[in-house]
Amino acid sequence: MGKGQVYGGGRLPALAVKRFTQIQGNGSPAVVVVVYGNRAYDDALLELRDLVGQNGFTPVAGAAFIGEHSFSDSKKPIAKGRPDPEDLEKAAQFGASLAAKIKAVDRLSDQAQLQVPGKFPYNPHAVPGGISPVTDNEMCVQCGTCVDSCPTGAVRLDDVIVTDAALCIACCACVKNCPNGARSMQAPGIQKVAQWLHANCQARKEPDLFL
Ligand SMILES: Cc1cc2nc3c(=O)[nH]c(=O)nc-3n(C[C@H](O)[C@H](O)[C@H](O)COP(=O)(O)O)c2cc1C
Repeated sequence: MGKGQVYGGGRLPALAVKRFTQIQGNGSPAVVVVVYGNRAYDDALLELRDLVGQNGFTPVAGAAFIGEHSFSDSKKPIAKGRPDPEDLEKAAQFGASLAAKIKAVDRLSDQAQLQVPGKFPYNPHAVPGGISPVTDNEMCVQCGTCVDSCPTGAVRLDDVIVTDAALCIACCACVKNCPNGARSMQAPGIQKVAQWLHANCQARKEPDLFL
């Protein structure tokens, strides 16, 4: 199963793409799944389908699910509580239908190409650079959860928590996972985007399933 988070401009995170390219399928079936923050997944699912196809997998099914947006917080909630029980029920049904589909396939090479929304050329990447969450040292107990949560190794513990903004991809995993609420994303550009998302992306989107 290939799973990607939807990043700036409805694309896959560049780091995830780099990691995916190291996995070779050798003809195995693949299920492509993206999670997005209730704005849109634009070209991300298509990008993931193409990527796994180029790496020797045969994409047989795809899905786009909704998760709480990385920039959501208590003052500006965006897709708060997603995935919820309804989403998880749909995911379980998707899994069951998928198992039945794969069982019924005789030869993967006879499969028509999986169709998912999106366009090529994909949207240009729109990823914030040079910014990172900050730590409130009064609240921080130096448990190291932020260090362990960071997918790029941008956070380290010296005498205090230090974040390398050049490595940070603004995913906010450290913010979401901090058990004491000591990490926050204060960058004005992100706060502005979060405000826009909060105002414009409240209408509930439903998971899309492609079998
Ligand atoms: C830099 C960045 C860009 C994002 N771009 C989008 C987007 O274009 N559309 C969208 O709906 N969600 C977008 N999101 C929200 C994430 O897709 C969503 O919060 C994420 O899938 C949740 O998974 P995670 O908690 O495992 O990171 C973006 C998040 C970040 C950090």
